Amino acid sequence: MNSIPRREAFQTLGLGAAALLASPLLASAAPETKSSAVDPKESEIGFKEGKFVLPPLPYEYDALEPAIDQQTMHLHHDLHHASYVKNGNLALDALAAISAGSGDATLTGHWNNELAFNGSGHALHTIFWNNMKKGGGAPAGALAEAIKAGFGSQEHFEKLFASTAAAVQGSGWAILGYEGISKRLQIIQAEKHQNQTFQGITPVLVLDVWEHAYYLKYQNKRADYVKAFMTVINYDDVAARLARAMSK
Ligand SMILES: [Fe+2]
Repeated sequence: MNSIPRREAFQTLGLGAAALLASPLLASAAPETKSSAVDPKESEIGFKEGKFVLPPLPYEYDALEPAIDQQTMHLHHDLHHASYVKNGNLALDALAAISAGSGDATLTGHWNNELAFNGSGHALHTIFWNNMKKGGGAPAGALAEAIKAGFGSQEHFEKLFASTAAAVQGSGWAILGYEGISKRLQIIQAEKHQNQTFQGITPVLVLDVWEHAYYLKYQNKRADYVKAFMTVINYDDVAARLARAMSK
């Protein structure tokens, strides 16, 4: 990404405003951009023609059954994720108007909050869908080594990630990210989408523990949902995100 001009990168990444372009969340949501000849996956294109867009799922709605049921996938993707896209666009438009001098500058703080919430929600959900696949798998290569270096073993990593997800208060996320200062993997929580985070972390694996992600099938048994999620992790996608984060 460093090898292409910022404007071109902005268009290629297909993701939001300048402020959000700098976000590690969106950098992680972006497709591989080392070569302009590499077409991004359609399921990762979150921005087109000046607007956030809802990318399609990278699989059928029932692909993750029984871990995640079809109805939840429809509601989660088609309504919840879509609402972050819609409201993120309202924020983008309002901030653009303020920047152009035609908007109400007294609402700058409000619209920045809206962009932080909805833009982060859009970025995290885009990663989330691609972090999963039918049948799951196991990490290999550099990802397996980084997990071992960071957490001792795959088993211990899974235990820590699951307990972090279970412990999120209210609505939020468990995030495995590449932390660019210490150059290692770190597990963190995000409250809602944008709070209680660690700036500088590039998410490579994210788990949505908002009730809308699991309540239809699991009701209040979040731990069961987390356990099921662990069986559908697409470690190839996680490994690709880690490789991009480490190369920056
Ligand atoms: Fe969600």
